[in-house]
Amino acid sequence: MTILRVEGLTKRFGGLVAVNKVDFEVSEGSILGIIGPNGAGKSTIFNLVSGIIPPDEGRVVFQGKEVTGWKPYRMAREGIARTFQTTALFEELPVYVNLLIGYRMRTRSGLWDVVLQTPRARREKKEAAEKVMEVLAFTGLAEYAFRPAGSIPQEAQKRLAIGIALMGNPRLVLLDEPTGGVGMEETNGIIELIARIRERGITVCVIEHKMRMIMSLANRIVALNFGVKIADGVPQEVCEDRAVIEAYLGEQHA
Ligand SMILES: Nc1ncnc2c1ncn2[C@@H]1O[C@H](COP(=O)(O)OP(=O)(O)O)[C@@H](O)[C@H]1O
Ligand SMILES: [Mg+2]
Repeated sequence: MTILRVEGLTKRFGGLVAVNKVDFEVSEGSILGIIGPNGAGKSTIFNLVSGIIPPDEGRVVFQGKEVTGWKPYRMAREGIARTFQTTALFEELPVYVNLLIGYRMRTRSGLWDVVLQTPRARREKKEAAEKVMEVLAFTGLAEYAFRPAGSIPQEAQKRLAIGIALMGNPRLVLLDEPTGGVGMEETNGIIELIARIRERGITVCVIEHKMRMIMSLANRIVALNFGVKIADGVPQEVCEDRAVIEAYLGEQHA
């Protein structure tokens, strides 16, 4: 079953067509890899699908419902979560508080619920605490729970960013270069975490530069260059695709 479909997705910035009539589909419970040289339009696609910016043309269909142009909070409520290319943590605050903030953004309690400690506020507080415990365990961050987020290893910070995305029980997570800035040797924990997210039945779209990683993780790969989709298929096919090889060689020569 298809969980996400984008059709003719187009975004222009002035004269630049950052995303140009892109189509792809993601099957529920799978991992889709998105690759392409710098500036290919990968992050812009995530911005469009998560509602940060509206497309100029095209459609985004999530779980059979058209969500094109919806604001980020509505996308999140539908079940789409994302991480950013540069990790945006509250570095002075403990790891568990970073997770809680991710959760609070989605709860329904209003100010009066919290002040008066209504049953709803009390229930949500308990749920939030349980969710924090669950995500700490799932991401392997329990040992760091009380440490300021900025003080834990870079690789653990990357897992925390993924954990924050998981706090809202998403159906789809968009991971923008989840191993960016992390050395080759330290990526294994992140790769394993992404695989376990899929095992839970959560669909993953991941933008990744490290080919070895994407080849071993993704069920399908979409390749972009200059905003245009140049290949779409199983990892082996895309890896051997002439246009993909040329796009990457071009980047190395640049
Ligand atoms: N908000 C923006 N305003 C203007 N140009 C942008 C904006 N976001 C992205 N771009 C441009 O769009 C192109 C695609 O960017 P991006 O999607 O970030 O590429 P990638 O993630 O594949 O490296 C780049 O040329 C980038 O400079
Ligand atoms: Mg990017």
